[in-house]
Amino acid sequence: MDFTKKTVIVTGSARGIGRIVAERFASLGANLVISDVDQEQAETVAGEIGGTAIGLKANVTSSEDVENLFEKTKKEFGQVDIVVNNAGITRDTLLIRMHEKDWDMVLDINLKGAFLVTKSAAKLMMKQRYGRIVNISSVVGLTGNAGQANYAASKAGLIGLTKSTAKELGARNITVNAVAPGFIATDMTENLPEEAKEMFLSKLLIKRAGTPEDIASAVTFLSSDEASYITGQVLTVDGGLTIN
Ligand code: NAI
Repeated sequence: MDFTKKTVIVTGSARGIGRIVAERFASLGANLVISDVDQEQAETVAGEIGGTAIGLKANVTSSEDVENLFEKTKKEFGQVDIVVNNAGITRDTLLIRMHEKDWDMVLDINLKGAFLVTKSAAKLMMKQRYGRIVNISSVVGLTGNAGQANYAASKAGLIGLTKSTAKELGARNITVNAVAPGFIATDMTENLPEEAKEMFLSKLLIKRAGTPEDIASAVTFLSSDEASYITGQVLTVDGGLTIN
């Protein structure tokens, strides 16, 4: 795969899956925008990637931040070819104990954030008559999960957003797909209770935790020329978790 001359924005790429996805694109020749609510870390990561990577602050829940992100990217690189909606958080607890603010925060960042970013991306990509959008959902968006009503709803919502946007943008040569990771070893899953980790690991067909590199492989494939006829799909990358 070759992403030379392509410009990629990855939201929430100051660490975790987003960072590794960004690094993979950079290793395949792309211009990278490391965008995160954590500006300092975004700039550090961009510096470490080097080459044509830049770090930009963008809180995905702010339409102003998101518009700035696209304006600055366009100024720097002239275009935006690929967008990965990766920024996401969890605020897990059982439904009856879930505070309204934790529902709102998770839906705002995970789902509204992707809506705002996709809207800005679509405006540019429609003019370019080219684009690739990949949304990072989750297997719990497909299966649900006790203790994650807010998170699962946001990740299921992303699948609806993916399919609807694919229908609106296909005629302009823009594909929109989702990746649904299973249990991936990052800071986000580090803090899960041991029983929850063991439950996930016991159900895997491929007997190891997933890595951000596994997700980077799926995201770059869906963004590549090789995947130009794939749109509106959800690619589950979970070591067999959901079929077991
Ligand atoms: P992480 O917590 O390690 O990294 C998330 C990044 O998003 C951080 O850099 C954070 O600063 C950034 N972020 C948070 N709020 C933001 C906002 N409002 N605007 C911009 N950036 C913001 O998480 P991880 O594990 O790398 O997850 C990345 C994505 O993958 C998330 O959407 C997550 O839901 C999804 N995912 C992760 C799985 C896992 O097992 N780790 C499984 C399934 C999906």
